Amino acid sequence: MYPFKEGQFAVRNGWYVLAFAEDLGPNLLSRWLLNEPVVLFRRQDGEPVALSGLCPHRFYPLGKSKLQADVITCSYHGFAFDADGRCVNIPGQDNIPSSCALRRYPVVQHGMWIWVWPGDPARADRRLLPDLVDIGHDRPGFLVQPFYFHELKARYQLLNDNLFDLSHLAFLHATTIGVGANATTPEELTEEPGVLRSRRRMKNCPAPPVVKQTVGYDGPIDQVNGMDFYAPGLHAGFADMYYPEWHTRAGQLLRKAQVFHAVTPATHHSCYYFFGMASDDAGQLAQMKLYLRQTVSEDIDASESIEQMLALHGEPAREVVKFSDRNTIRGRLLLQKMMEAEAAGAH
Ligand code: FES
Ligand SMILES: [Fe+2]
Repeated sequence: MYPFKEGQFAVRNGWYVLAFAEDLGPNLLSRWLLNEPVVLFRRQDGEPVALSGLCPHRFYPLGKSKLQADVITCSYHGFAFDADGRCVNIPGQDNIPSSCALRRYPVVQHGMWIWVWPGDPARADRRLLPDLVDIGHDRPGFLVQPFYFHELKARYQLLNDNLFDLSHLAFLHATTIGVGANATTPEELTEEPGVLRSRRRMKNCPAPPVVKQTVGYDGPIDQVNGMDFYAPGLHAGFADMYYPEWHTRAGQLLRKAQVFHAVTPATHHSCYYFFGMASDDAGQLAQMKLYLRQTVSEDIDASESIEQMLALHGEPAREVVKFSDRNTIRGRLLLQKMMEAEAAGAH
């Protein structure tokens, strides 16, 4: 499906964020992952659990069922399942067919997120999780904070495309974090296995509204924007803003932002968006949690509007490509290659 080849949807063998760790407790949480219903909860000993969210009896959603002492009891006819997905009770009979079990997904808490592996469980390797120091999550003196969880009526790659191409800041976010230089400054692109990095170094460019509105400085600034994609579902970015070279405070930091966007394919036409931030300044986190609501809602609106176009108009035969689409194109290609390797049985 667009923008991938016909029949391609998403990488299966990879870790995806399905919840913020702080949202997982002793209650059932319903999610979708690659078009499969999943139910999540935290066991009494604190360990996260991810099971199929579909009761094998009559397909009642288990997320609407009851959880007690780590046992889910289906609210329809009372089948009960333990945290390993084993059926431990069928009311009115002693015999429990071996086919009566829930699929159990590999799941791990890592950083501020709960990650689930939808593919072959034998391949679920914790070493494939993004390194918390590398992504800027575990920095000495830094606080990390989940900001928002959204379910978008848009296929996940529309949100990935948005995050791969930060030239959109100049237009979509012109009243918050964007300036013209976001679209006119070329990117530096580098690549490591499973990781795509992009950097934009903007010199002596106008300060974006966020600097004027939160720091009170209105002159030109130097700015470095970066975004690193950790396949298949995390973008870790930063925007560091400095006084420009000619200023008496040249090189001093005006503001620093470390952001995390986790993008998860929920169904073919919906996705989850987990947005969080890290900072060494608790006040800045509180301020940005309010400030960035508008920016994020602009990205959501753009992605959902495109999904609507695709639904009504049909998927385009071809796109017009601009020079600064290089990052988007290589991001799509990376995921496409991973899907092709899976289809060929290599991964
Ligand atoms: S649908 Fe779950 S027990 Fe019948
Ligand atoms: Fe955006």
